[in-house]
Amino acid sequence: MTNWDKVLEYLKPKEPLYCPETPSLTQKVFLRSYSIEALFGGAAGGGKSSALLMAALQYVEVPGYSAILFRKTYADLALPGALMDRFRSWIANYDEVHWNNNTYIATFPSGARVSFGYLNNTNDYLRYKGSEFQFIGMDEVTEIRESDYRYLFSRLRRPATGELSKVPLRMRAASNPAPNWVRQRFIVEANSSGRIFVPSRLTDNPGIDVDSYRQALSELDPIERRRLEMGDWWATTLGTIFDRTNFVVIDSSEVPQVLSSARAVRFWDLAATEPSSTNPDPDYTVGTLMLFDQGIGYVLDVRRHRIKNEKVEQLIAQTAYEDGHSVAIRMEQEPGSSGKALVDQFARYVVPGYDFQGIRSTGDKLTRSRPFSAAVANGNIRVVRGPWLTDWLDEFSSFPEACDHDDQVDSAVGAFSFLAGLGLPQRRPVSIII
Ligand SMILES: Nc1ncnc2c1ncn2[C@@H]1O[C@H](COP(=O)(O)OP(=O)(O)O)[C@@H](O)[C@H]1O
Ligand SMILES: [Mg+2]
Repeated sequence: MTNWDKVLEYLKPKEPLYCPETPSLTQKVFLRSYSIEALFGGAAGGGKSSALLMAALQYVEVPGYSAILFRKTYADLALPGALMDRFRSWIANYDEVHWNNNTYIATFPSGARVSFGYLNNTNDYLRYKGSEFQFIGMDEVTEIRESDYRYLFSRLRRPATGELSKVPLRMRAASNPAPNWVRQRFIVEANSSGRIFVPSRLTDNPGIDVDSYRQALSELDPIERRRLEMGDWWATTLGTIFDRTNFVVIDSSEVPQVLSSARAVRFWDLAATEPSSTNPDPDYTVGTLMLFDQGIGYVLDVRRHRIKNEKVEQLIAQTAYEDGHSVAIRMEQEPGSSGKALVDQFARYVVPGYDFQGIRSTGDKLTRSRPFSAAVANGNIRVVRGPWLTDWLDEFSSFPEACDHDDQVDSAVGAFSFLAGLGLPQRRPVSIII
């Protein structure tokens, strides 16, 4: 064996067992990464989902090894051709691998297990509270909440001794590009954090007919096409409204304390539906607390809940009490008499004694967001670090084209417009007669 052969031998990843596909070069790079966190991200069809299954299968000969693979919903996992279905077709060739279709767990002759799960609802993660895994894979991770990703990280464990102690702990993700927390974590912060990013390209996958795949992708809109065909994480619409890097993130200690000229508002955008089986993803009620001083807007706090009518009232009353009387309360007033009646109801019964008014919005959402967008672009919006921050920035950076909800944008735009004195009724010029 020459030295080069030895080097090449050394660089080979540990082989995935029970896997009918031979890893491509980029898949090998992914399988050879032993750092705790890695993302295989980019073009659709690059073999990312297969690479996750391969990675999970790298240590199934080790007794006690436990791996789990996630997608956002059960349907995403189980549809024909989807992740779990592909895995089942792989292990179907081996009688000695047992599949349990109630628990979605495959058990290998060593006793090792590979299981599947989903993280659709906000408390789904609690199902894994007592579990330990050496491998966690998340497919289409940009659809998964950052908080779920972080929580599951804490489930990566191994014993201190024995064969299992030699298995690397691995958090692995795969995804097509999207402008959200995943891009921030793996592409913007990767160099300084030791996280590995392996770019996926369509042409790297030996198992795909590139021409016909390109043909299918050509039907997409240009942005989605750039993401799925080229794996471009930075493709956004021409007039991106909010660039997340322009928001200045600060600690609460950095908010100026002496604020004689400052004004503050809690601006509410209301919704009144809880998630249900017929409507699993309704809008949120959002209240943004913003302070405005010498041309700088400070986003201090964001309350965001999906609750029903009477609970909305409780939330607003409780928040008013916490914010105190120096904070004005404003609310988007729907057009017509029902909007007026609702504001009247709040003024008299929910927040009596506070500086409260309804504000009727004019123009379309995009036009309304421009002044706030300009303030952000000019570096004049400071955002205080809080648990709500990631979701908040994700929503802004995908507004208006790619976000499922825009309630946080609406609420912040409302707060800013109010504080900056935009949209106030025009005063008549005063004529002075001498
Ligand atoms: N190394 C490989 N050899 C053969 N076929 C592969 C290989 N990697 C992936 N494939 C197949 O190519 C197709 C696309 O791969 P997939 O993993 O779904 O890509 P992605 O998740 O990046 O969109 C699938 O049918 C998959 O089974
Ligand atoms: Mg995939």
